[in-house]
Amino acid sequence: MKSIKVTIAGAGSGYTPGIVLTLLNSDEFNVEELRLYDIDPVRNDDMHVIIDFIVNNGGYDIELIKTEDPKIAFTGVDFVFSQIRVGKMEMREIDEKIPLKHGLVGQETCGLGGFSYGMRSMKGFSELIDLIQEYAPQAWILNYTNPETIVAETVRRKYPDAKIVNACDMTIGIEDLICDSFDYDRKNWIQEYYGLNHFGWYKSIYDVSLGRDIMPEILEKIQKQGFNVEGMDDSWALTYENMKKMVDDFPTHIPNNYLQYYLYPEMIVEQSDPNYTRANEIMDGRLKKIKETAKMIRENPDLEGIDYEGNSHGQYIVDIAASILYNKNDRFMLIVPNMGSIPNLRQDATVEVPCYVNAKGVEPIRLGFNIPDFHKGLMEAQVASEKLLVDAYFENSYQKALEAFTLNQTVPNAKVAKAVLDDLIEANGDYWVELK
Ligand code: G6P
Ligand code: MN
Repeated sequence: MKSIKVTIAGAGSGYTPGIVLTLLNSDEFNVEELRLYDIDPVRNDDMHVIIDFIVNNGGYDIELIKTEDPKIAFTGVDFVFSQIRVGKMEMREIDEKIPLKHGLVGQETCGLGGFSYGMRSMKGFSELIDLIQEYAPQAWILNYTNPETIVAETVRRKYPDAKIVNACDMTIGIEDLICDSFDYDRKNWIQEYYGLNHFGWYKSIYDVSLGRDIMPEILEKIQKQGFNVEGMDDSWALTYENMKKMVDDFPTHIPNNYLQYYLYPEMIVEQSDPNYTRANEIMDGRLKKIKETAKMIRENPDLEGIDYEGNSHGQYIVDIAASILYNKNDRFMLIVPNMGSIPNLRQDATVEVPCYVNAKGVEPIRLGFNIPDFHKGLMEAQVASEKLLVDAYFENSYQKALEAFTLNQTVPNAKVAKAVLDDLIEANGDYWVELK
């Protein structure tokens, strides 16, 4: 079994305990060193207390380092897992609330909230890559920093040779839910999926144990029974109710749930509370739990246990790392330059398609069929608007940003696009590059 050194960038995230537990329990490799890196020392301290407890309580033999210094964080590591959130949950709240104030979808990665976050991430993530290239040019970056298409497009333009794998857990989340709802095992699946990040469709799901494409029967089951949302929080349960609606209206493919924001923007706005959004739920839930758990451990270090466990979000990151380490050629949905993967979509799009992962990196598949006009049309507009936003970032161009905002499919006209853009410029301040 190989031993690796791992840094988690953005360690203060509420996802960290689950990822670390999955990582430590992996039987594929041994983590000899784990470094928690965050630019917020208070959050990093809290997380360090929790992870230190997990390590001691579980009797894991690893060196745990907590640092806000990039040199200590990155020098000599094998992998950097990046989950940074520039502006933290407080700015997510603003991304969600400003568009809602104007009657538009207010969401973390989709619509204008996603563009606001995108402008911050392009800047913050580029700074992170600079540091990793300086201190750990040998390291693989497993990136799940949102919004992923925009981040991946930026990296590809600025750092074409970066050792980076851009991954999102949403397709795995969808597949887990399908398996849980209708009793399948996704280990048996070969999936055909295409799209942009948080913007795609399944074309088929071949089940090896059954010897056939089971997508038609899954579509039928979704329509007849809906998903099993037991144990989910209300927001995710509603998301999967909306996903069923998408399947009812467009029953030919399984859509990514995030398409709800583009296909039913008015409905989403009606379902939203402009004064209490998902960011508020996370702050009052996942983030509060971190604070409380850290406090509990500080007050009582002999505590028996805490309420965290490994999860599928952590598992896919571990699986990707293992596929690189052992040259396994396992297949994952990843975010890559199109370059022929989707033959009838512009070649310079940044797409999400099945890819094989090995010691050399990512090898996307070529789908080998043309995607339907409905999907292509939606994607072309989305690609163009995301590219315009990335242009705006590199060129400091207000004009390009306004074009990006206007073209976004959650936006009905240029007037409201401009109003939201101006509000977001003010709210983001130095988190964004200056737009002239
Ligand atoms: C999924 C998506 C992520 C997104 C997350 C939001 O995992 O793939 O990109 O950040 O959901 O979940 P949350 O519970 O934070 O709203
Ligand atoms: Mn995602």
